[in-house]
Amino acid sequence: MNKVSIFTLLFLSVVLPFPPPVRSLDPPLNDDVLGLVAFKSDLRDPDQKLASWNEDDYTPCAWNGVKCHPRTNRVTELTLDGFSLSGRIGRGLLQLQSLHKLSLSNNNLTGTVNPNLISSLGSLKVVDLSGNGLSGSLPDGFFRQCGSLRVFSVAENKLTGKIPVSVGSCSSLASLNLSSNRFSGSMPLGIWSLNTLRSLDLSRNELEGELGTKIGRLNNLRAIDLSRNRLSGPIPSEIGSCMLLKSVDLSENSLSGNLPDTFQQLSLCYYLNLGRNLLDGEVPKWIGEMRSLESLDLSMNKFSGEVPGSIGNLLRLKVLNFSGNGFIGSLPDSTGNCISLMALDVSGNLLTGKLPVWLFQDGNSTGGVKKIQVLDLSCNSFSGVIGAGFGGLRDLQGLNLSRNSLTGPIPSTIGDLKHLGVLDLSHNQLNGTVPKETGGAVSLEELRLENNMLEGTIPSSIKNCSSLQSLILSHNKLQGAIPPEMARLTNLQEVDLSFNDLTGTLPKQLANLGYLHTFNISHNHLSGELPAGGLFNGISPDSVSGNQGICGAVVNKSCPAVSPKPIVLNPNATFDPDSGEATPLGAVGHKRILLSISSLIAISAAAAIVVGVIAITVLNLRVRATTVSRSAVPIAFSGGDDFSRSPTTDSNSGKLVMFSGEPDFSTGTHALLNKDCELGRGGFGAVYRTVIRDEYPVAIKKLTVSSLVKSQEEFEREVKKLGKLRHTNLVKLEGYYWTTSLQLLIYEFLSGGSLYKHLHEAPGGSSTLSWNDRFNVILGTAKCLAYLHQSNIIHYNIKSSNVLLDSSGEPKVGDYGLARLLPMLDRYVLSSKIQSALGYMAPEFACRTVKITEKCDVYGFGVLVLEVVTGKKPVEYMEDDVVVLCDMVREALEDGRAEECVDMRLQGKFPVEEAVAVIKLGLICTSQVPSSRPHMGEAVNILRMIRCPSGSSDELGSS
Ligand SMILES: *[C@@H]1O[C@H](CO)[C@@H](O)[C@H](O)[C@H]1NC(C)=O
Ligand SMILES: *[C@@H]1O[C@H](CO)[C@@H](O)[C@H](O)[C@H]1NC(C)=O
Ligand SMILES: *[C@@H]1O[C@H](CO)[C@@H](O)[C@H](O)[C@H]1NC(C)=O
Ligand SMILES: *[C@@H]1O[C@H](CO)[C@@H](O)[C@H](O)[C@H]1NC(C)=O
Repeated sequence: MNKVSIFTLLFLSVVLPFPPPVRSLDPPLNDDVLGLVAFKSDLRDPDQKLASWNEDDYTPCAWNGVKCHPRTNRVTELTLDGFSLSGRIGRGLLQLQSLHKLSLSNNNLTGTVNPNLISSLGSLKVVDLSGNGLSGSLPDGFFRQCGSLRVFSVAENKLTGKIPVSVGSCSSLASLNLSSNRFSGSMPLGIWSLNTLRSLDLSRNELEGELGTKIGRLNNLRAIDLSRNRLSGPIPSEIGSCMLLKSVDLSENSLSGNLPDTFQQLSLCYYLNLGRNLLDGEVPKWIGEMRSLESLDLSMNKFSGEVPGSIGNLLRLKVLNFSGNGFIGSLPDSTGNCISLMALDVSGNLLTGKLPVWLFQDGNSTGGVKKIQVLDLSCNSFSGVIGAGFGGLRDLQGLNLSRNSLTGPIPSTIGDLKHLGVLDLSHNQLNGTVPKETGGAVSLEELRLENNMLEGTIPSSIKNCSSLQSLILSHNKLQGAIPPEMARLTNLQEVDLSFNDLTGTLPKQLANLGYLHTFNISHNHLSGELPAGGLFNGISPDSVSGNQGICGAVVNKSCPAVSPKPIVLNPNATFDPDSGEATPLGAVGHKRILLSISSLIAISAAAAIVVGVIAITVLNLRVRATTVSRSAVPIAFSGGDDFSRSPTTDSNSGKLVMFSGEPDFSTGTHALLNKDCELGRGGFGAVYRTVIRDEYPVAIKKLTVSSLVKSQEEFEREVKKLGKLRHTNLVKLEGYYWTTSLQLLIYEFLSGGSLYKHLHEAPGGSSTLSWNDRFNVILGTAKCLAYLHQSNIIHYNIKSSNVLLDSSGEPKVGDYGLARLLPMLDRYVLSSKIQSALGYMAPEFACRTVKITEKCDVYGFGVLVLEVVTGKKPVEYMEDDVVVLCDMVREALEDGRAEECVDMRLQGKFPVEEAVAVIKLGLICTSQVPSSRPHMGEAVNILRMIRCPSGSSDELGSS
């Protein structure tokens, strides 16, 4: 084919008003190819749906969306629905003289509809242009020659003007759909002569005027939808002549008057929607004769009188909507016969009496309404209690009983409603509590109980309603704290707890709720600091006002420094060693714990001094900085300096004393301070391993605080005192070496490594300490510290790297009492010398007015306890954050998730109650105020009771 010629033809076909028939080419060119190529040239085809439309083809019959007559090869069907085409419907189409079906629905076609479309294509039977962006009006003569037209739809476009009067000439028309346009004016008279019409949809336009009596002529009509227009006047009784009608939708007009009695002739009608009109009068009894009805909507009219009992005859009824009328009396019990009912809405009427027994009766309901999914009885004057029977409505998805006069409690059977998404019981006079079973309604998205007289606490089981978006409990008498579990409801968007009697502080985790946009807690008795972050950064003062104790920037009231909750070790709880569960006193009375130190029953960790976490953190940070810089300094000792010589042979250089009696160092001394044997470094010096008498390994500590050390006399006196200490959990001091420039302490050597290494440097977690190991370490350390304190020695430097484990895992505390060797107990020196004791340092070190006592060891011990249980370092440095272990654990405990802190490596392998009790002990020991911390002896007792609540703790040994 000659390309130039077809382009010329195309050009002509597009530009000329009507292309002259061209049949002179050889082989003869198919008109339809030409027409379709021209049609395509007017369109944009982003999805290349029309790629197969090749102008070089002789026939278009194989093209996408095209069907031809098998004999003539003329195009009979063009079906391009949903092809994403945009542009205008060009004149090329008018070439398709044999076209029966034109379907271009759901594209993006714009412009006007060709006024000659129907009259030019006389063979058209089906035209579907719905779901496009067509505009303009259809001329009066549009349907002039539409004798063969059976289906016509231009629904969902932007067409305007009147419906063409010529529509009356479509003598074969079965379906007319002009819905969702902007057609205006009155119903065209021609329409009433279309007695072949089975479906008429003119809904969602701007039609006005009365329906007229001629509607009765459409006696083939199966479905009529005139909804959402501006039709007025009465519903003509002639509609009863359309006896084949199955679906009638006249809703959202301004129709008035009564329901015409002729409606009862529509015995096939299953869908009747007259909602949102101005209809009035009573609903007649004959409504019960419309037995086919599945959906009956008379909502938002002016109907009055009682709901007729004959409703109960409608056994197929699935949807009944009588809302927004003036119905009085009670809902007839016969409604319970409507066994197919899925949605019942009688809200906004004047109904009185008890809630329908067939829905709410306790036990088995009399009616068979079991499939109901939506039930709305709101805004009436129903009274009485909500029967527990509604728990049997297992399919219920929405229940609205709000704004009635209901009394009594919310039945616990609410928990049986597993599909319930919306529950609104607001604005009644319900009393009792919010049942904890509410948590069983796991699909709840919206829970509204506001404006009742509910008391008790917000059940923590609410956490199970994980889809909850709205929680409105305002204007009740709820008490207690806001459960921290609420923070697990990650879908929460709107929370209103205002005007209750809630107390306590706000759970911090609420700040993590990402979708929360409204949070109203005003007018309660809440206290404490507002959480930081999330919604709380911009919360309006109105949402928190009326709470005396709330502090924070929003309410323009500064918070007292730190006020953590008191931690209570419950002495009445007993720990069943078999189950690891705590059982209440009485159940196992003989296991009752007798706590000798009553002060421990409830030890408040509340801070009274202003030194807060910040001070400690700053101090620790400073200490850390020096640690880092120091580690860069090369090790000062080498094998070649004077200390490789035997100190015993050089009487001028110093004195070696072994408490065991034999100062025989001769063989090992050359390696005494070989840096290759360095074991570690601490605040008071480096530690080396060496062997004396060829077989006896010892650890040597070289004190690096020489300039601060006391005179030889004092030094020796103190060291000898330390040397006399004997305890199974204490690293034995074997001897010392003294010169004016060098002091060495000689300790027993332990092969097991430090607790620090076991906790934080265990390779691959393989040698992880078990729960029992850990507990024994804690207990042993406690006993040792108790022993030291009894001996009037403060350790000053308790930390995991100073607790060594012997070969059987028994803890041995080292590095004790060294501060006694300093000329004076300077707290600055102490805090800087105990340099790796990050996070272990008690707050009083930062506060010159507080005397430092053995309670500083208790603090360090508490941190060590938490470190052992959690497997985390006392202070961890993140990208831009410092996590202080005891703060983190305290927070977790307050939120009731203490067990989540336990070392991951122990997951599932520890008794929860025991671990939580140990955590509590750790936190009590880290109280900010020294006097709030227990004595170490008390801590030992508590640990024994935690382990063995029966009191027979003797086998644990004594210190
Ligand atoms: C119509 O066009 C708009 C943008 O022009 C596009 O977003 C939309 O998806 C199109 N619709 C269809 C049915 O192709
Ligand atoms: C309800 O009826 C069923 C069977 O009709 C019976 O098995 C069940 O026990 C009844 N339940 C109550 C609470 O009466
Ligand atoms: C709830 O109110 C009713 C009266 O309406 C009263 O009899 C009942 O004791 C109240 N229940 C509670 C738990 O307060
Ligand atoms: C423990 O029990 C005693 C007496 O049974 C009781 O007085 C005390 O309040 C209880 N303590 C706690 C913390 O439950």
